[in-house]
Amino acid sequence: AQATPQTGKRVLLAKPRGYCAGVDRAVQTVEEALKLYGAPIYVRKQIVHNKHVVSTLEQQGAIFVEENEEVPEGATVIFSAHGVAPEVHDQAKARSLKAIDATCPLVTKVHQEAKRFAAEDYDILLIGHEGHEEVIGTSGEAPDHIQLIDGPADADKVTVRDPNKVVWLSQTTLSVDETLETVARLKKRLPMLQSPPSDDICYATSNRQHVVKEIAPECDVVIVVGSRNSSNSVRLVEVALDAGARAGHLVDYASEIADEWLAGATTVGLTSGASVPDDLVMQVLDHLAARGFTDVTEVTTAEERLTFSLPQELKRDMKAAA
Ligand code: F3S
Repeated sequence: AQATPQTGKRVLLAKPRGYCAGVDRAVQTVEEALKLYGAPIYVRKQIVHNKHVVSTLEQQGAIFVEENEEVPEGATVIFSAHGVAPEVHDQAKARSLKAIDATCPLVTKVHQEAKRFAAEDYDILLIGHEGHEEVIGTSGEAPDHIQLIDGPADADKVTVRDPNKVVWLSQTTLSVDETLETVARLKKRLPMLQSPPSDDICYATSNRQHVVKEIAPECDVVIVVGSRNSSNSVRLVEVALDAGARAGHLVDYASEIADEWLAGATTVGLTSGASVPDDLVMQVLDHLAARGFTDVTEVTTAEERLTFSLPQELKRDMKAAA
């Protein structure tokens, strides 16, 4: 028998992809605040690291600022999903701002771990990317006890006060595999190193990486929808390449996909970061279909059902206004 020539161009669509529970809650927080208090609503830093989400909220009346000082006294300010150092709350109080904290509860969990270990006078090794807002926020909980470990190479240089009293924590959106490598290297120097009480890399980050690893070996190219400053989105491209995709690209919009990326490709993998609305992925599917990639298979490796309720301070006002 003759083998049927494979002519079909196909897309492997990853699931889970896109919005996680923390992003969904943070975006809804801004939308509900706009409805309840009216525009403008100030948001300190990008509410989530996605260009499209930020510009959409801007059109609805959100004003994004870098610091509390840019917010008029007495106005409402929302803190982003990535979390803030305690001093940011203090500054808001000093300016009589009405602060609504949209920090993801899974980031808050890491803050609490940091506070607890610092109170017990541990040295805390925080694995994360230097300069990322989440790392700045978490470090601010215990600046005297935390040192940043930015990747495996940093692990070889670390020194601590007491090698018997040291714990590692991490940013929520890291590469799972690279973090394991960093921890292994840290443990070589610090055999008594303790692990976080529960995983700091969040469920959404690890689920999105897991499904990309599944599809990548079959893909000529993997397209990740997400913004450059989105840690978890950038990691998805790296994971795809490590897992055997022949090429990987990060795009904010379908229009950024270059035709040469698809030239000669039979199988395209498609996913999106945790801060990406699914319409943007659907637009990529349309773009691919218009170029002959009409056979779409969704590959599912986990079901996600987690949701978080809105910040208390907002819920209280919503209830009062109802
Ligand atoms: Fe939270 Fe993880 Fe999303 S920490 S904001 S659930 S990527």
